[in-house]
This record gives sequence, structure tokens and C-alpha cells, in this order.
Amino acid sequence: MGRKFFVGGNWKCNGTTEEVKKIVTTLNEAEVPSEDVVDVLFLAEVVVSPPFVFLPFVKSLLRSDFQVAAQNCWVRKGGAFTGEISAEMLVNLGVPWVILGHSERRALLNETNEFVGDKVACALSQGIKVIACVGETLEQRESGSTVAVVAAQTKAIADKVSNWAHIVLAYEPVWAIGTGKVATPAQAQEVHLELRKWLHDNAGAEVAASTRIIYGGSVNGANCKELAAQPDVDGFLVGGASLKPEFIDIIKAATVKKNV
Ligand code: PGA
Repeated sequence: MGRKFFVGGNWKCNGTTEEVKKIVTTLNEAEVPSEDVVDVLFLAEVVVSPPFVFLPFVKSLLRSDFQVAAQNCWVRKGGAFTGEISAEMLVNLGVPWVILGHSERRALLNETNEFVGDKVACALSQGIKVIACVGETLEQRESGSTVAVVAAQTKAIADKVSNWAHIVLAYEPVWAIGTGKVATPAQAQEVHLELRKWLHDNAGAEVAASTRIIYGGSVNGANCKELAAQPDVDGFLVGGASLKPEFIDIIKAATVKKNV
């Protein structure tokens, strides 16, 4: 079953109105110099994730073939939860995607595996599609527990969810995020394959074959093609480079899949 290449841009806590306008202009003006490139942009599903406060603004300016994602949402229905944003509010604003379980939230805001699983279930129940992030720390990698860590994170989601059709799984090794230290294509492929096996054994062959597993962690215009050539790498979640024009080059890495 074909898996459409997926490229997410996680803008994190960055941007002013002016800067956001500039990024969107760059995306909207991404050159389409030949028939081939039209094809490339068609090959990839592109979702950018600005901070909450810019979501309606970005959505109103952004080209219609790209979509937006929130960077988080609340774990249940709205109410007396100061500072939180509910999935219903995202639906109300026409925001189709949300990133959940990002390692920065797991580490800095103490989001547990179970809490992330509950959030994924809540967002899906409201019809929001989810980019669910998993990944090990350097310490966990060095102690040989990478696969156990990402399997436990994925299990906590699987425990709450039966339908994977609207989930993209993002493998983001914590040691590669924002560090410039990208996983090698072999390291990425190894974990992606393990995650696909995990899905096969625990969610079924069809889920394993159709779920996009994307890589995140210091992806840039220079390293994206080699990573995209790996059979189980179905796209990227991009932080720093998603704020720059090279994000377009990363989207174009989708062409690599044409020959796979
Ligand atoms: P990075 O971030 O590309 O800046 O390493 C990736 C992410 O956190 O999603």
C-alpha cells in the first residue's frame, strides 16, 4: 500500500506576525518551474505548525494545498483549564492536524506516555489528525533501550486508539532535536523498521503497511534526500529548517520515493 510522503514543519515557539508572514510568503511562492516539480509538490502532504496565536492567520494566508497543525491540545473537553486549547476549538477554527507527544513537552512539561495516549485519543475523537511523536534520549540510546522506549511510547497510544488511519508516527530521537546531530540514515531506518514491526504485531498488518512513520531531528536541505531514500522513512518532521526557505528542498525530497 502506497504511503504518501509527509512533511511537517514544526515552528515551535518562534515568530512574530511579520516573520510568520515572510515564511508563508516563501511557502506560497515555492517555485514550480516545471511539470516535474508540480508532481513533486503533489507527491508530498505538507503540514506546517505555527504557534496557536498565529494559526488562523497562517491558515488564511497559506496556499490551499498545504495544511496547518496545532503544536498541542488539551487532553479532554474544554472547561476550567486555564491556558489550555481544546480539540473542539481546533475543529471550530478548521485546524485539521495536531502534533502530540513532542519530546520538548514530554521533558519540560512532564507529559507521560499515558497522558500523550489520552491526548491522541481525544484529538482523534474530535476528527483531528495527529502527528504523534516518540523518541529516545541519548542516555536511553547508549544503554541500548531505544526500541523498548519507542515501543512503550507507541503502546501507550495504541492502548487508547483502535484506528490508526489518522495518525502519522514521528520518530524523533531527542539527541538529534535542535542539536545539528542528525541520525544516520541507517539509524533512522533501523528504528522505523522496528516501529513498523511493532505496529504489525500489535495493530495489524494493514496498519503497519499504511501508517506513515516520519523522521525528525536536525533534518535539513542537505541531509533529507539520503534519509528519504530509506524504505521505512515516509517523510519528516522539521523544526529549525522549517523556518527557512530550505524547507521547500525538504519537501522536494519526496522525489526520492519515486524510484523506490
Ligand atoms: P529540529 O526539530 O529539526 O530543529 O531538530 C525537530 C522537531 O523537534 O520536530
